[in-house]
Amino acid sequence: MARGPMVAIAEILKGAYVGREVELRGWIYRTRTMGGKAFVVVRDDTGILQAAVSKDGVPAESFEAVERALIESAVVVRGTVVADKRAPGGYEIRAADVKIVHFAEKFPIQEDLSEEFLLDVRHLWIRSQRMTQIFRVRHTAFAAVHEYFRDQGFWEVHPPMITPAGSEGGSTLFEIEYFGRKAYLTQSWQLYAEALALSMSKVYYVGPSFRAEKSRTSRHLTEYWHAEMEQAWAGMEDVLKHAEGVISHACRRVAEERPDDVIALGRTPEFLKAVTPPFERLTYREAMDILTAKGVGIEWGKDLRTFEERALTEGRTKPIIVSHYPRVSQAFYKARDPTDPEVVLAFDVIAGDGVGEIVGGSERETDLATIEASLRAQGEDPKAYAWYLDLRRYGSVQHAGFGMGMERLIQWICKLEHIRDAVPFPRTPARFHP
Ligand code: 4AD
Ligand code: MG
Repeated sequence: MARGPMVAIAEILKGAYVGREVELRGWIYRTRTMGGKAFVVVRDDTGILQAAVSKDGVPAESFEAVERALIESAVVVRGTVVADKRAPGGYEIRAADVKIVHFAEKFPIQEDLSEEFLLDVRHLWIRSQRMTQIFRVRHTAFAAVHEYFRDQGFWEVHPPMITPAGSEGGSTLFEIEYFGRKAYLTQSWQLYAEALALSMSKVYYVGPSFRAEKSRTSRHLTEYWHAEMEQAWAGMEDVLKHAEGVISHACRRVAEERPDDVIALGRTPEFLKAVTPPFERLTYREAMDILTAKGVGIEWGKDLRTFEERALTEGRTKPIIVSHYPRVSQAFYKARDPTDPEVVLAFDVIAGDGVGEIVGGSERETDLATIEASLRAQGEDPKAYAWYLDLRRYGSVQHAGFGMGMERLIQWICKLEHIRDAVPFPRTPARFHP
């Protein structure tokens, strides 16, 4: 088969190739034969496009192969691009030749299948239009996070994934056997970030975090991608601005670069473009008052659960910020508020649509004795953190940082009901296969 230029479907759908001969490589998404005509909808990584194949327009064996080919067969189509209002997307390719590169067996995914079955065949389900739309948004969101931090003068540095101790409490640590010793998969780069911030001042990283989180919710994974930053010579208010900044930058980038995917997923580019700083601010005490007024009050010190986060974000289109959490039950590294010893300088960014907390961050405690006391109060041995405590001995300065769950952000941007669809192969308590 003669070669025209290899073209991506998205390019054809922009109207750039009308009247030209092109070559398309993809997989059969849908096919329909009517008399001497076959309409083959082909998908590639950028979209779907209809190829009109007529019996007298292509070699006889090609037409016969097209009639025989089942969905998900791999196909190469050569033909001329025409604008046609009847075709999905407004363009089609009039085939001069079609080659079935691989005849697929009957595809196991047909209509109306259960969620569980789709997770069993995730390796095939990731070919669906919906999944590829999400992956493209994810691609853009990741690029935007890197772009934001680099533009703001942050260095990209990398922490270890295998660690001797956790930062976010023992209950969600994944233990691994490390040549006869106990080690843990990282929950957050936090402790290493604090070390790196005293080396490189403004640092960030995007990589995996692990939580042995047994709760089966629509917003927890056991393995997720964490975008984290740490900044020396900075307090909570400074890093809060970066939390707003990076979220709004990611939303804007996705709106600009992927408007079609965003619309297909049920958001609008306008919704995302309106996500601009500043976000609405509440202290934990103010949040408590609002919840009480709504009849769903909580006790001092209790974490905000999905339920309360929903109540607080009701009617809001932008995420909100809740800060100044009660000191009880907070991680040992969070700084006390010098004006209110009952609270720490910690904050969460909370998004609507049931997604909840997408960012958690804080100013870090700098007083050595206070950290040691907090560790002991949590039943931890400060000796296990000896290297971390060194950071308060040599050139300690005020610093702060946060972590953003990339899948939570993508879940919210794409309006997904469940976080598992924000990642190709989700890891949850019930499943680590395929
Ligand atoms: O609030 P977290 O636990 O904070 C930390 O780990 C800090 N050490 C971050 C830092 O200051 N560098 O986690 C941060 C974010 C959460 O806001 C949430 O978006 C996400 O990580 N996250 C999860 N995402 C998916 N599945 C889970 N099980 C998650 N646990 C946390
Ligand atoms: Mg948190």
